[in-house]
Amino acid sequence: MSATFDPLKEFLKFVLDSEELMEKAASVKDEEFQDYLNGVPGFKKFYLYNDGEFQIQIFQCPPNFIVPEHTHPNVDSYEVYMGGSMCFSHGGNWVLGEYEKIKYFKHRDYYCIRVRPEDPHGGVIGPKGGRFMSVQRWINGTKPSCVGSDYTGFTVSAEHVGDVTFGKAAFKEQISYKDAATLEELKPVFKLDENGEVCDVSLPKSWI
Ligand SMILES: [Fe+2]
Repeated sequence: MSATFDPLKEFLKFVLDSEELMEKAASVKDEEFQDYLNGVPGFKKFYLYNDGEFQIQIFQCPPNFIVPEHTHPNVDSYEVYMGGSMCFSHGGNWVLGEYEKIKYFKHRDYYCIRVRPEDPHGGVIGPKGGRFMSVQRWINGTKPSCVGSDYTGFTVSAEHVGDVTFGKAAFKEQISYKDAATLEELKPVFKLDENGEVCDVSLPKSWI
């Protein structure tokens, strides 16, 4: 047996098993969020839970938003998809629902990816915005704060640089999808159905 106790994984199971937390995570109202995170209109955060080194934040992202690739040096986390249209990156590559590596973390119908402190990750948000839950364990004795303040990489805005308390952050004026997944050549395409709702995300070669 090589099984080892993984405190964050156990915390994630506790969270996903908690009807109270999951119901609240899915139903946080607009007015309950703190808006203008990092000075970005529509970029919203909500603190769902905090106990010692463990914390849960819900992030609501505005439409057509790019989060450049970055790391959180003092945070081990699971990012849990909660709704909307988003294309996450992990280790420089896109992570889509069809990909084996995200299915591996599928638990009780929630798609989760493990993002360790050294793991670069980012994302492109589709035309309707998107919501995810960040289930965090803060390490190295660091007191939990907003995960966006423990940040190494290009920021989501100029204001974000001033919000970073640990890490090496810089603002880049012009960012594209390539900043969100630096090993990728393909741009995520959010396909809309006849009602204008996002029905699929794909990476067609024609977008190169
Ligand atoms: Fe992050």
